[in-house]
Amino acid sequence: MFTMLFKLVVVAGCFGVFQLLLRVYRHLTSPLRSVPGPFLARFADVWYLWALKKANFEVVNKELHKKYGPIVRYGPNRYSFDDLTATKTIYGHGSQFKKSDWYGAWNRPDTWNLFAEQDILKHSKYRRQYQNDYSMSSLVEYEPFVDECAALFDQRLQELSQSGLPVNMAHWMQCYAFDVVGCITYSKRLGFLDQGLDIGGFMTAINNGLIYSTLAGVYPFSHPYLFGAISRFGGGGIGYVINFTMQSIAEHQAPAKVVDEDEKPAPGKSRDFLSKFVARHHKNPDTFTTLHIIQGCAANMVAGSDTTAISLSAILYYLLKNPETFAKLRQEVEEAQRASGTASKDISFKQSQEMPYLQAVIKEALRLHPATGLPIERVVPAGGATIAGRFFPEGSIVGVNTWIEHRNPRVFGEDADAFKPERWLSDDAEKISFMNRHWMPFGLGARTCIGRHISHLEISKLIPRLVRDYDFELSDDVAKNGWHTDNYWFVKPKNFIVRVVARKGL
Ligand code: HEM
Repeated sequence: MFTMLFKLVVVAGCFGVFQLLLRVYRHLTSPLRSVPGPFLARFADVWYLWALKKANFEVVNKELHKKYGPIVRYGPNRYSFDDLTATKTIYGHGSQFKKSDWYGAWNRPDTWNLFAEQDILKHSKYRRQYQNDYSMSSLVEYEPFVDECAALFDQRLQELSQSGLPVNMAHWMQCYAFDVVGCITYSKRLGFLDQGLDIGGFMTAINNGLIYSTLAGVYPFSHPYLFGAISRFGGGGIGYVINFTMQSIAEHQAPAKVVDEDEKPAPGKSRDFLSKFVARHHKNPDTFTTLHIIQGCAANMVAGSDTTAISLSAILYYLLKNPETFAKLRQEVEEAQRASGTASKDISFKQSQEMPYLQAVIKEALRLHPATGLPIERVVPAGGATIAGRFFPEGSIVGVNTWIEHRNPRVFGEDADAFKPERWLSDDAEKISFMNRHWMPFGLGARTCIGRHISHLEISKLIPRLVRDYDFELSDDVAKNGWHTDNYWFVKPKNFIVRVVARKGL
């Protein structure tokens, strides 16, 4: 027994020494060895894992660039950029940079989803199959769902105002965003706004999934084993969402008739994603399979809820931190409402698009607080590539973090850290177009967010309503020290504590 144990220790020790020597050798012979970064990051990804665990990588990433310059390493083969040309090279039109293996942990092993798919050709095939359902022209179908949730949110805020109690607005924004996504996907509110609670632990499951995938993605080979083990013990965010999706599909299909994909919905009637997917499946069962239905619905829930909730919180947070901006926006909304001559509480999407200050406020908040906060990793394709003036061989993992890009003073000026919606309303068209090219809260290129118009719909309709109908008082702590966030890919506010006060006479 003792000899056996001794042998195991010796084998493990030899393996460890071999790994260490191999890593040192690889680093010393790498053409990129002079790229600066933390010492441990030269040899092992464990540095990145450790940094991610602290849940503030958007801050760490900034410090790295401050200390080491425009190109830094955050792993033996991982490079982050703070450079004006890098985004175009990595994500630009026709880019052959595929997603890195980190994305592998955002899926159930042995299957695919639109967000995690790494193969460029497969991804573009899948994307074409879903594209129409997310287009600008399909928004009109989803608008009644958003109105329904916005009205219910309004009821809850009235009650919260009467109670006078402090509330965590980040939670309520989640309730709204999750219920909207449930409605547009299944015609079914999941009930978060009804009860103000995390019904069935759904939000927690998604949050656990975010933490898991963010960390497991650093060592993607571990994912099939970890995922299997976690699922066996009943945990695992992705597994939970897929099970929930299958259950929702079963419930939805029981009473529903299959609609014809090419049939336009009756006036005033909306068709949810699931109905469209099922219709497409019945028309082309071999190319649009049941897996397409499941993955399409699940992607909406995972990619579309927290991101929108975070963005809504960020917009309100920056408005509350800047009362003069809040007042200016309220004035715009009230004038638009007077001009429209309607007394409806709903703000139509069309109306919201005619409010330039509102649009500037949204853009500026998403610049200062983009929902994702890690380098958006891609792999340098065959033949290598020159990025930010330096050659990177094939297989290098490269990425730009939106938090770095959005705060670049060479793009946004010396006041890049300040909340100034006015910067988007300048007469200088060239400057606006330059800033637009570096504004990337929804990512860039072929992998840009497919749901961005939907989130724009949700945001544009809710924010003016809140600003028009309520006053909000930040808690002393948040007013003084700012809010706290956690970054596991999504940079989520934790303590957005406010008191809601309904305006009288509205
Ligand atoms: C403000 C809200 C949102 C933000 C900030 C956001 C952000 C992003 C970003 C940055 C990406 C690209 C990630 C990458 O390249 O790694 C992405 C992709 C994606 N988003 Fe969003 N998103 C939002 C809302 C939504 C909504 C509402 C949906 C669905 C209803 C959605 C569905 C997706 C999907 C399916 C992808 C993968 C697209 C592909 O790879 O082709 N997102 N999102």
